[in-house]
Amino acid sequence: MKFLIINGPNLNMLGLREPGIYGDRSYTTLCQLCEDWCAEEGIECELFQSNHEGVIVDKIQEAYGKVDGIIINPAAYTHTSVAILDALKAVAIPTMEVHISKVSEREAFRQISFVSYYAVKTIQGMGFEGYREAIRALKKWLQS
Ligand code: DQA
Repeated sequence: MKFLIINGPNLNMLGLREPGIYGDRSYTTLCQLCEDWCAEEGIECELFQSNHEGVIVDKIQEAYGKVDGIIINPAAYTHTSVAILDALKAVAIPTMEVHISKVSEREAFRQISFVSYYAVKTIQGMGFEGYREAIRALKKWLQS
């Protein structure tokens, strides 16, 4: 089983970026944890981060036929990107949406998620642990 883990804009700034909301651990640490958590579940994983919407769309399209599942934190594009939603629908790869913070308790503009119209499930407010939850939940969903 192979997963593609996509992180959107500004998540490369984890550790520096609003630590009161996103914590003080870095994107490199998040990648290491995701690799470990996938290995524990016997899952091969590819990690990808971009600050550019079209580059994320290209990456999703390239994943067609190559991965069994996608875990995505679209970051700010969560709330704006029909293009990322349409790319996920186009490739029809089962997808879990993750947010480090509890977006449902934040600003009004964060209350819409386009990706959630396609995602199997949305995990939010669990910090980095949310990715572990997403890896396990997506594996379980694919096996059921
Ligand atoms: C985020 C929440 C988004 O609203 C925000 O734009 C992000 C990160 C999260 O992981 O909590 O960049 O997706």
